[in-house]
Amino acid sequence: MIDFKEEIAKEIAKTIDLDYMEIEKLIEIPKEKNMGDYAYPCFKLAKVLKKAPQIIAEEIKSKIDLSGNLIDKIENAGGYLNFYIKKEELIKTVIEEFNLKKEEYGKSDFGKNKNIIVEYSSPNIAKPFHIGHLRTTLIGNALYNTYKYLGYNTIGINHLGDYGTQFGKMIEGYKRWSEEYTFKNPIDDLMNIYVRINELCKEDEKVLEICRENFKKLEEHQEYEVSLWQKLKELSLKEFYKIYDLLDIKFDSLNGEAFYSDKMQEVIEKLESTGKLIESQGAKIIDLEDKGMPPCMICKSNGSSIYATRDLAAILYRSREYDFDKCLYVVAYEQNLHFKQIFEVAKLLDIDEKYINGLEHVSYGMVHLKTGKMSTREGNVVKVEDLLNEAIERAGKILEEKNPNIENKEEIAKKVGIGAIIFNDLANSRIKDEIFDWDIILNFQGETGPYIQYMYVRTKSILQNANFVPDAKEIDVNILLDEDAINIIKNIYSFEDILKAVTDKNEPYILSRYLIELAKNYSVFYNNNKILVDDKDIANARLYLTYMTNIILLKGAELLGIKMPEKM
Ligand code: ARG
Repeated sequence: MIDFKEEIAKEIAKTIDLDYMEIEKLIEIPKEKNMGDYAYPCFKLAKVLKKAPQIIAEEIKSKIDLSGNLIDKIENAGGYLNFYIKKEELIKTVIEEFNLKKEEYGKSDFGKNKNIIVEYSSPNIAKPFHIGHLRTTLIGNALYNTYKYLGYNTIGINHLGDYGTQFGKMIEGYKRWSEEYTFKNPIDDLMNIYVRINELCKEDEKVLEICRENFKKLEEHQEYEVSLWQKLKELSLKEFYKIYDLLDIKFDSLNGEAFYSDKMQEVIEKLESTGKLIESQGAKIIDLEDKGMPPCMICKSNGSSIYATRDLAAILYRSREYDFDKCLYVVAYEQNLHFKQIFEVAKLLDIDEKYINGLEHVSYGMVHLKTGKMSTREGNVVKVEDLLNEAIERAGKILEEKNPNIENKEEIAKKVGIGAIIFNDLANSRIKDEIFDWDIILNFQGETGPYIQYMYVRTKSILQNANFVPDAKEIDVNILLDEDAINIIKNIYSFEDILKAVTDKNEPYILSRYLIELAKNYSVFYNNNKILVDDKDIANARLYLTYMTNIILLKGAELLGIKMPEKM
């Protein structure tokens, strides 16, 4: 595909003494349509050349040869050079590329030989999978898919919270009372047991001591404790997988905290050898005062390891096992300090700087529930599985009203309901707190998942009516020169750049917004133009545009984790 930005940079480079790659970095895509397709600001040059930007712009403009195929006209607007590209060439290159790649449009080997770890979801065993875990799961999954599509070697890790002193208590509680429970709702029952054992520990110091012993035995890999711990883990995972299955989410690795239980000694030794691991009230800590942070605890006074130590062991392990270029931690912003601390301490582990630079906390905001509307509330804890099922149910009701005779209603309701939740989660910059409101999420006309699905279904039915995809080589580009069509063509042209922006910033919302814009642009086009007209050339061109839109909506949604219904 022609890279217009690069071509323009090369044209500019012919007129001034600058490398085209430097020029390209400054070229922007103007927000206003009357400012051209690309703009080059001359202000930086003005400083170097000691001339007014307008004058420089005028000089460059006069030297650029417009007899080539790509640039239609150039305007000098107050020190900006606005470039208008030849629309015919844009359409031609988009269609050619599309015809080449079809369902794989936008896919590339851009990230070849780069290893990206995306750590996401990471719920805690024997504790509820809460709505915050839903966010990390969805953001992480979208990032995972997008990196992969761009050719990165991507490793998805669910860093399960399956270790820690609380397991000593869980084991004790389970030992004592498991007979009393059915474990039909394992997490509920385990939580109950946990509350009970905690109370008992408070009343009876001896029980607390037994619990500590249990965890010690677990750390020493004693058979009985390990098998109970295994049991707790299985029960929880079974529950978590109800959610993962509904969302169709998979992981490459479930190596959680417990996996690092025998890998922490090395961390402690390495830290000790730096002389910076100091004793403080019996515990071992790294002082981070000079970095403006509280100390990072490495060992508790009773010798037990902690969360941070396991994270450090994971960094060491992942650097060796995966040789990562990036290791992304999709975790709520409440843990900002934790990650700042461990990234700082990781510098003491004597690993290549590449790994230190690759560590990144991809943090995200909270979910606020619009009160009074959630039927699944129990206190303040929303059960994610119930939430997903409620979404499916509500979507089913809406479908029932809109289209009572539709086939496969259940399957469609599932795609629409789950799709609505996923889109809502990924619709805004991740650091923003999210508002959860059923009426907004499921609005078929709003900026929602169902809206994108709805436009997809539109395109699908047009293609089905036509019953063929026109030959790309026979499309008359002149038919697609009007504004409505060009807007769509421009969207399609930028798809790969959008995906790159998603991975640059680790922000799936960039793709979400893009899909809304494409769907809206198609809607405008569709309202203003009949597609299957008698004139074969016109019908073919519009049909091909529909075909491209159809595939990009499908592909883009798939990368976000949203499935498309064939009808709705
Ligand atoms: N299990 C933790 C929680 O639910 C999140 C783990 C985040 N990942 C990590 N490497 N610390 O809060």
